[in-house]
Amino acid sequence: MDKSAPASGAPAPAPSGAPRRAVPAGFLFGTAISGHQSEGGNVNADCWLAETVTPTVFKEPSFDACDSYNRWGEDIAIAGGLGLNSYRFGIEWSRIEPEPGVFSNAALDHYSRRLDACLEQGLAPMISFSHFTVPRWFAARGGFEVADGADLFARFAERSAARLGDRMAAASTFNEPNVQRLLALFRNEERRTVGEQMLAACARACGSERFSSQIFVPYQATEATMVDAHRKAMAAIKAGPGDVQVGMTLTMQHVEGVGEGHLGPALEEALYGPWIEEAKGCDFVGVQTYTRVIVGPQGRLKPPADAEFTDSGYEFRPQALGGTIRFAAEKIGRPIIVTESGIATKDDTRRVAFIEGALEEVRNCLDEGIDVRGYIYWSLLDNFEWTSGYGHRFGLVDVDLKTFERTPKPSAYHLGALARAGVI
Ligand code: BGC
Repeated sequence: MDKSAPASGAPAPAPSGAPRRAVPAGFLFGTAISGHQSEGGNVNADCWLAETVTPTVFKEPSFDACDSYNRWGEDIAIAGGLGLNSYRFGIEWSRIEPEPGVFSNAALDHYSRRLDACLEQGLAPMISFSHFTVPRWFAARGGFEVADGADLFARFAERSAARLGDRMAAASTFNEPNVQRLLALFRNEERRTVGEQMLAACARACGSERFSSQIFVPYQATEATMVDAHRKAMAAIKAGPGDVQVGMTLTMQHVEGVGEGHLGPALEEALYGPWIEEAKGCDFVGVQTYTRVIVGPQGRLKPPADAEFTDSGYEFRPQALGGTIRFAAEKIGRPIIVTESGIATKDDTRRVAFIEGALEEVRNCLDEGIDVRGYIYWSLLDNFEWTSGYGHRFGLVDVDLKTFERTPKPSAYHLGALARAGVI
């Protein structure tokens, strides 16, 4: 089956009626996936263990995921066939370094073949060196709560970049190093308690004193080391072969302040901490926006009564992207790539509407002269949505979780047609 066939048509007019505009030369128009969420069988990762102990905050374990560790060729061919020109994926530290200091040539070969396939398909590869998971052994020795965790991450980055860097267009050290701050703001007490019990169960399973799983420990315990790890990994990647644009991606939900004395600035400070300053030293910053947060003088406000909600439970608000791009441009001042923008929904027409709404924001920001260098939709596949399991479907492509058959949705062809024509 030629899964790319419908993408060859001309792109539909923008739903707002606004004229489309050509994207700047070199604009990355793509889609993304992470290792743990798509590969399956990621047994040496901290999350694999956390998913399978009792109690756990995970709704279900990842197990086979989308079997992308075997079916990566098909994934890349679909992305390329749609007409996209960039593909963002993660390399799994726990596969490349399954035991401390032991590097797997087979795993590096695997990711090397994926990079070659991207280039053959006309997809500029964007690599996440960390997308939330760490090796089990790393968590068991204290993760980023231990200062030399930074050197271990940098060593992994150095070894991987030496083998793979020559074919990377762009790379991020950490995916959303501020996600722990986001979780601290919005996670409820019960969830926090079960999370702690889960980590204690993981430590027991490893026979270790603790289990420091990056996304489940308080940011206060890891942040200084993660800043150090980011800097050292960035230097290691840049010192390697190729001309890799290196940055980080940030979770950036648009903070919309309402009323005099609103707490917007305080919320922004709490959400970003040191990462705005760190991002200033990057070649680019990855903006990852899913919704907005409305805040008044007393704190968080509910979305308006007529708001639509996505399957993730938050407001459908593609316009939030314009707010975060402008925020990043003003506060960080580095080139911007929208490295994640997406929606969990079973109604694919809402995905098309979300993409169009987000692209309208990118269009306006480009018109304002902001240096936006790419739009990467999250995600290529319906995949493992972390603690929410498989129910939340972000994908442009449906995946049958038994047969692993991939079926692109209309939104995939919609995005592909825009990318082929180079317009938004
Ligand atoms: C993460 C993805 C996740 C997505 C949707 C982002 O914060 O990088 O891994 O699937 O949000 O929730």
